[in-house]
Amino acid sequence: MIHDILIWPDPKLREAAAPVTRFDEALDTLVHDMFETMYAAKGVGLAAPQIGVGQRVVVIDTSPQDEGAQPLVLINPRITRAEGSRLWSEGCLSVPDEQEKVQRAEKVWVTALDQKGNEIAIEADGSLLALALQHELEHLEGGLFIDHLSTLKRGLIKRRMLRLKEKASTRKRG
Ligand code: NI
Repeated sequence: MIHDILIWPDPKLREAAAPVTRFDEALDTLVHDMFETMYAAKGVGLAAPQIGVGQRVVVIDTSPQDEGAQPLVLINPRITRAEGSRLWSEGCLSVPDEQEKVQRAEKVWVTALDQKGNEIAIEADGSLLALALQHELEHLEGGLFIDHLSTLKRGLIKRRMLRLKEKASTRKRG
């Protein structure tokens, strides 16, 4: 099922997500829905809080930009090590049609559980995956890439998002 993606500012995007403790059918459904929602929106990553689910679940698929990339499911992920720094141009499905440069690490190491609860380790260096990991994991803490921008820039984007939300709700009513 394709879910609505929450648009910033939405208080649910600001809540820290809770760890997953049950690897059951409900988790399989959530992961399936998250991929479906991400692909429908043409995104390369999605975190559960973006569809209003406060759980530490992330899906990422950076193909075809990253050659040979596979769809990734990350449960309770954490960055164990980060190195270097790089200015990336970033966007977010919860902040549609906005692209801004953000300083991130060049290389990250992440540990997580897969959908079955098995431990996995990922290393990403200078690729879109390295950016996606940092961006999506930030969502689990209630963070967004716009937090890295100046107050002025964030204010302008906020006004555009509020107008967008207003238009969307007018369409729904009418
Ligand atoms: Ni995002």
